[in-house]
Amino acid sequence: MNQIQHVAIIMDGNGRWGLKHKNSRNLGHKAGLSTVEKILKETIKNKIKFLTLFAFSTENWKRPQKEIVYLFNLLEEFLLKKIEDLNKNQIKLKIIGNKKKISTKLKKILQNSEKITKKNKRLQINLALNYGSKDELLNTFLILKKKNIKITLENIRKNLYTHNIPDPDILIRTGNTKRLSNFMLWQLAYSELYFEKKLWPDFTVKDYNRIIKSFKRIKRNFGNI
Ligand code: FPP
Repeated sequence: MNQIQHVAIIMDGNGRWGLKHKNSRNLGHKAGLSTVEKILKETIKNKIKFLTLFAFSTENWKRPQKEIVYLFNLLEEFLLKKIEDLNKNQIKLKIIGNKKKISTKLKKILQNSEKITKKNKRLQINLALNYGSKDELLNTFLILKKKNIKITLENIRKNLYTHNIPDPDILIRTGNTKRLSNFMLWQLAYSELYFEKKLWPDFTVKDYNRIIKSFKRIKRNFGNI
């Protein structure tokens, strides 16, 4: 049976869910956050060590300002309310992505959350924020060039945002869309991909466990036979 170290999730479908229920995309994001909390608990139960959540992409800035502000406020409130709880539960928070465009206020909250939880070992949540895979790769190549480091697979890996994190075993994308949307293109090279029809707020612990169970039975060859 395959062991699972790392699950990555593209939490798609919040907007459509919100529009369907109360004609408000933002309501969908709020509901999406409840799903995040449920999946978090189940990840711990399954003894999985890394969970990466795609919360905001480098392309999401194209959305209406009202939605962007709502999303960042939601994250801010969540962290202020829950960081102590996360810490008590031995959860480490790590931000992956470019923090440059994030507001000073949120940046401080993020830095503080990372600092408080940095020694925790039970589960690491990687929150992908202003994250884009092409941006990450470009950033990596620029670091290598600047430091005059030889371009090798290992040196590229060592300079990604995810340098000390194993590659995802499983990628889940909800929302009935089969694409990667510039998410972890390097790291997903050998991951098992699960595209779910349900919108993220409707995704359940039962759905999550079905995927985990199915993954455990797959024969992974990594190019071998
Ligand atoms: C994609 O759905 C979802 C996002 C861009 C944001 C994800 C955010 C959350 C789940 C809530 C906040 C999370 C944390 C961790 C605080 P979409 O809006 O693209 O949906 P659509 O495809 O139906 O438009």
